[in-house]
Amino acid sequence: MTRPLPDELLKLPHRIEVPFTKLTTLGVGGVCHWLFEPTTEAEAQAFVRACVRESLPYRVLGGGSNLVVLGNMSMPVLRLRFPQELQRNGLTLTAPASFGHIRMAQGAANEGLSGMEYASGIPGTTGGALRMNAGAYGRELVDILDTFRFLTPQGELIEKRPEPGEFNYRCSFLTGGYVGLSFTVRLAGGDRESIQAQVRENMGKRGSSQPLSKRNAGCIFKNPPGTSAGRLIDLAGLKGFRIGDAEVSSEHANFLINHGHATAAEFAELMDVVRAKVRETHGIELEPEVEIWHAE
Ligand code: EPU
Repeated sequence: MTRPLPDELLKLPHRIEVPFTKLTTLGVGGVCHWLFEPTTEAEAQAFVRACVRESLPYRVLGGGSNLVVLGNMSMPVLRLRFPQELQRNGLTLTAPASFGHIRMAQGAANEGLSGMEYASGIPGTTGGALRMNAGAYGRELVDILDTFRFLTPQGELIEKRPEPGEFNYRCSFLTGGYVGLSFTVRLAGGDRESIQAQVRENMGKRGSSQPLSKRNAGCIFKNPPGTSAGRLIDLAGLKGFRIGDAEVSSEHANFLINHGHATAAEFAELMDVVRAKVRETHGIELEPEVEIWHAE
């Protein structure tokens, strides 16, 4: 049952009954009954404040590249649709949270700014990257993060510099009702062509070791300290293991792929099988990197 929403929410830009197959890179999940798509910070703040007033829980969606939704979602979902502009100021670059993360890395390279090359293969939005402290090749967003703007679950708008403990391996405090709005990275000047070449090389490396031609959600599990989840899953003999149309990729075992008609339930089941087998083989508990939303 979907609950009627107050007028102050309904006057904000929104769509109804949007399938999660179109909102997530894995292409599974039920229907998003209420998808709110503010185009300004003020609209995003009005959304959070209205939800607080109504005691209405909500979810925050980015590029949907790290998400499996089980069933239909009747609580409002927020997805920012801010203008797609990067702002350069000297050696800093600012992106709205709805900006493509890979596009930002390419934008930095085109500006002759070095320091974001590691990010050139990481999908999703910059908002998702902020929330997850996205990283690759031993680097992560917090290494270059100068300031960031966000809404608290009470709807307060804050801009600050990162502090120790706020961003860790693939996580930050910006979960639950927090909404990342934008961030600024501090980069270094460099030779534009060699930075662009590094970006292309990183994208190529990812393309050769990861199953990017199939629908996927990036790495499914976090790397346990000192080891690689992909390697552990591979050694457990799970490459190619399939439930329905959901499969453990034969190219990179920490990727699950959708052969076309997989369901969210099949992915959830496959994740359980992978965790159990890795626990049994290696005695290690894998922690999901993807978020799982249950029907609410
Ligand atoms: N490996 C295997 N079998 C596999 C996959 C990997 O033996 O099926 C081995 C590789 O041979 C290598 C080691 O495991 O020796 C590490 O593999 P890889 O270089 O692919 O890195 P990863 O730890 O699996 C991490 C990030 C990726 C990021 C790459 C590139 C995590 C969970 N994963 O993968 O990020 O693209 O490094 O830097 O941190 C993501 O977060 O969604 C993601 C894909």
